[in-house]
Amino acid sequence: MKKRRLKKKVKIIGIGIILLTIIIIVLIKLSILFNSYEYKLKKIGYNKEETSIILKLDEDKVDEIITLELNKDIPLLIETKYFMYKNMHNYLDFYNKNSSYNLRDVVEIINTNRNKDYYVDIKSSDITKGNLTLVNKYYALNKEYEPVELKSVNLQYAYANNKLIKEANDKYIELAKAAKKLNYNLIINSSYRDFESQEDIYKAKEKTMGIEKTDELVARPGHSEHQLGYAIDIDLYKTEYDKLENTDEYKWLLENAHKYGFILRYPKAKENITGYSFEPWHYRYVGIEVAEYIYKNKITFDEYYAYYIEK
Ligand code: DAL
Ligand code: ZN
Repeated sequence: MKKRRLKKKVKIIGIGIILLTIIIIVLIKLSILFNSYEYKLKKIGYNKEETSIILKLDEDKVDEIITLELNKDIPLLIETKYFMYKNMHNYLDFYNKNSSYNLRDVVEIINTNRNKDYYVDIKSSDITKGNLTLVNKYYALNKEYEPVELKSVNLQYAYANNKLIKEANDKYIELAKAAKKLNYNLIINSSYRDFESQEDIYKAKEKTMGIEKTDELVARPGHSEHQLGYAIDIDLYKTEYDKLENTDEYKWLLENAHKYGFILRYPKAKENITGYSFEPWHYRYVGIEVAEYIYKNKITFDEYYAYYIEK
């Protein structure tokens, strides 16, 4: 009798332990589920697809997103090319105020500072980046900056007094020689310009055209990449600048300059990003690899710099 009662007790205790273990396991599983990002994002209102997009981000970024209210633009932004998390709140603010833009434009505008006025919040150009140094209306070189290793450009391919940094000079000569084989005669009209020469050009233009128009065409002193020694203005002897676009030489340059490390720096339809009118003559040396990327992806150097260099 006693033995039987004992057996029953052991049985009850056994069942109790099993039940308790099951309850503990269920509670642990529930707690894991309620603490998962998937659950939290679902609770905010994101669907499965949006959740999986958000979960591509690093944990600290997902941690921030789950503190924010539901915003269906967030996953769309994350999927947009050249999205940078550090700019997310700026993208959202800008998009809220300018809903006629598409998200690709918003990313492009914010990445390149175009939501800010020109020449207001000026940063120093980071010259340690060498041929990838950015100089534009937001980034400037100081008055004294002068590149080392400037080399005069061979007079067969440039007017007198044109200098470039050696690497750009060598590559330009290769480019000009390749053009020459097709009977295209390239000649550099302007290349390295110091701060003072840029100032003279700017002031002369300003006198005749006024500030607004001048700013579309000429960089203010310190803001020209001609001061870097990596920029060239290509001329075709008697062809005027404004007729350049319709020449075979221009078309050839468009398709071939990148093979020698040069990019068309101020393209058509990108004025909004570069801050300058289309300049079919102005090429910038960035090295072959970057030039090919920019050519293939049809982006500006300003965008490339924001995403790959400054990031
Ligand atoms: N024309 C280009 C923008 C310059 O002045 O550097
Ligand atoms: Zn130029």
